[in-house]
Amino acid sequence: MDTYILAIESSCDDTSAAVLKNTKILANVIANQDVHKFYGGVVPELASRAHQQNIIPVIHRALDIAKINKNQLNAVAFTNGPGLLGSLLVGASFAKSFSMALNIPLIEVNHMHAHILAHFIDDPQQPKKPEFPFLCLTVSGGHTQIMLINDYFDMKVIGQTIDDAAGEAFDKTAKIMGLPYPGGPLIDKWAKEGNPHAIKFPHPNIPGLDFSFSGLKTSVLYFLRDQLKNNPDYIEQNKADLCASVQHTIIEILMKKLRKAAKETGINHVAIAGGVSANSGLRNAMVQEKEKSGWDVYIPKFEYSTDNAAMIAITGYFKYLNKDFANQQLTPFTRYSE
Ligand code: KG4
Ligand code: ZN
Repeated sequence: MDTYILAIESSCDDTSAAVLKNTKILANVIANQDVHKFYGGVVPELASRAHQQNIIPVIHRALDIAKINKNQLNAVAFTNGPGLLGSLLVGASFAKSFSMALNIPLIEVNHMHAHILAHFIDDPQQPKKPEFPFLCLTVSGGHTQIMLINDYFDMKVIGQTIDDAAGEAFDKTAKIMGLPYPGGPLIDKWAKEGNPHAIKFPHPNIPGLDFSFSGLKTSVLYFLRDQLKNNPDYIEQNKADLCASVQHTIIEILMKKLRKAAKETGINHVAIAGGVSANSGLRNAMVQEKEKSGWDVYIPKFEYSTDNAAMIAITGYFKYLNKDFANQQLTPFTRYSE
């Protein structure tokens, strides 16, 4: 018998709903929130309000696209954390009421695990799925982790950032350059026209498999302060080289630790996930590593890299098969826990 799941993602600033049939996505609707653009980051109160406005239309649209009636659904899955509390509460409250009204199981999903499990969504263009055990570099706006994945729900963090996340490094350096939020995709765009070796930014010296990105942000800030003293148009005139150099530094920091993790664990099945895995430079670096080191590389489909409910749906599906259901007392959590 087929399994149909409605999934909801509302952990940060994207309201998304997806409908899944077994491992196949029938609909994946995302409403972005433009309201944060000129604040240099997500404003939590504005995000919760926008989720509240978007959630019903987004769910209606997903069911329409999927051509599924709500009475056909077997379960409702939702992101229970980590994320912004006010944002999470909107999705969680909707999912709880929906499951109660339809008398179908409720499934809670960890957002970071979902980024990784997005690799298991049925996709005719990418039929090869990661083999266990594999490593995953999960890089988003709030997290940077190297995970060892032994099974769908047996994951261990073996390295993580001690300060800023990789996505924050993109967004904060972009902000220093005067680019709107989120700066990651804009840096990616400008980097394509620049020289990645034009400016040398220092690399952190952090032991083990952990990362640090706060030093890069400070280096960029001081470097630009000095340049702007002599030339107020420095940023405008050197935008592409600046973006390419910042991007190159972030990717090198990430890849260095990922190579170390592969070496130490002896695992050469390596995936990337999360918003920063949409970055074209990181994607290229993974392909190059595949050619150089013989890794089996898994790069998510672009639309499943940044926040989306399709990844919540596939994770919900695996939990459904395990009959791993949540109850109505559950409350969202803001920080990652295994
Ligand atoms: O996973 P995600 O959509 O949301 C969180 O869970 O945080 O990740 C968002 C992050 C932002 O920092 C954004 O700037 C970054 O992913 N991002 C990118 C690109 N697309 C999104 N960073 C670099 N290059 C991109 N193309
Ligand atoms: Zn995310």
